[in-house]
Amino acid sequence: MKIIEWKPEFSIGEPILDADHRYLIRLLNRFSDHLGSSRSKATIIDHLVQLYSSASNHFAREETIMLAHGYSDDYVKHYADHQRLLNEVTLMIFEQQYGLQKDDRAITEWVHSWFHEHHTTHDARLQLSIQEADGA
Ligand SMILES: [Fe+2]
Ligand SMILES: [Fe+2]
Repeated sequence: MKIIEWKPEFSIGEPILDADHRYLIRLLNRFSDHLGSSRSKATIIDHLVQLYSSASNHFAREETIMLAHGYSDDYVKHYADHQRLLNEVTLMIFEQQYGLQKDDRAITEWVHSWFHEHHTTHDARLQLSIQEADGA
């Protein structure tokens, strides 16, 4: 089941970042699909490790583009939220590893909010900034 559908309004206006966001949504939906009766701890950890790796690469690209656009006002807050998101994934990995895992419903809610909250706040502000810089 897709928990996150790509919407045109998610577009940041930078093709490389839009491609990253689409990919992260695919990863999160695949992760969500895995939850349920056939879930295995090892596969959940694999999904989380892949999410961490792809997200940290994406965040680095996004931060570079923010700096290139002279996006200074909210850069520190945006950067700090990227770190918070990565820390949450690390915590989820530890929870899975040591048997402290949340139930599937709680994980699904986390997967949904993990992308959505950041994207509709910090990334949305970046989108406005890019549009203004492009004279849109
Ligand atoms: Fe971001
Ligand atoms: Fe992003």
